Amino acid sequence: MTSEYLRQQFGFDGQVCVVIGGTGVLCGALCDGLAQAGAHVVVAGRSVERGNERVAAIEKLGGQASFIPVDATCRKSLQELLDTVVSRHGRVHALVNGTGVNASTPYLEISDEELKQIFDANFLGTHFACQTFIPHMVSSGGGAILNFGSVTCFRPLSKVYTYAATKAAILSLTQNLGREFAPQNVRVNCLCPGFFPAEQNRNILSPERVTDIMRHTPMKRFGDPAELVGAALLLLSPVAGSFITGTTLYVDGGFTAMTI
Ligand SMILES: NC(=O)c1ccc[n+]([C@@H]2O[C@H](COP(=O)([O-])OP(=O)(O)OC[C@H]3O[C@@H](n4cnc5c(N)ncnc54)[C@H](O)[C@@H]3O)[C@@H](O)[C@H]2O)c1
Repeated sequence: MTSEYLRQQFGFDGQVCVVIGGTGVLCGALCDGLAQAGAHVVVAGRSVERGNERVAAIEKLGGQASFIPVDATCRKSLQELLDTVVSRHGRVHALVNGTGVNASTPYLEISDEELKQIFDANFLGTHFACQTFIPHMVSSGGGAILNFGSVTCFRPLSKVYTYAATKAAILSLTQNLGREFAPQNVRVNCLCPGFFPAEQNRNILSPERVTDIMRHTPMKRFGDPAELVGAALLLLSPVAGSFITGTTLYVDGGFTAMTI
């Protein structure tokens, strides 16, 4: 009885969820969670190898998944992703924008090329995907979008100037779109993780940086990707999350509540 109740509360059975960046660490865990909750997961990303590995892992768990390559910085590639999913499955119920790149270059040394690369992958990738998928969701009766923010959405995190700016922009976009498309039943929310070791931050987590992070994280540890899944499922759920839009949910071990 309990599991049936929870299945109904989350309502992912028969849902088609596209996870851009599902090739990565955090969204990989989210793909596993969505599939185990009953969704068909479309893992989308640049690495065919990692995408296929994720699909195999999901199938091993008893879930349904497929991989479609995409470059989120390219509108044409995103349109092809949407068209392929719609031709195979009829529609898209949920979209996750989980691409991310980062760099810790000192501010005065940031090149135009680096700034553009980080803005393109983080902000433009999210914006292009929203512009591509929202018209489909509107004409299909609604949908849910989950953008990836960060603890740097509201306060600029030191040493990652460009990344911080992209995440503040993603928060602004999320709130605007949540408001704008609420009447058409398209919900748009922002998940803000604290610190989770992943690919995009591997080179940034120096021993000194880790000491600073732990000093500022009341739980005194990194997050585990599995600890993001419940929060993401809530925001994406057409049942449990049906009245949630334009909001921000932190999963950060208390980082954003820290003072002295
Ligand atoms: N790990 C953390 O501590 C942390 C904290 C806050 C926010 N985030 C955010 O979580 C999200 C997931 O990141 P992660 O930490 O799992 O990193 P990750 O590097 O493991 O995953 C990011 C994925 O995005 C893919 N990607 C990058 N550019 C792309 C593009 N143009 N098109 C398609 N795919 C592209 C990468 O190939 C990779 O698979 C990102 O938005 C990141 O900024 C992570």
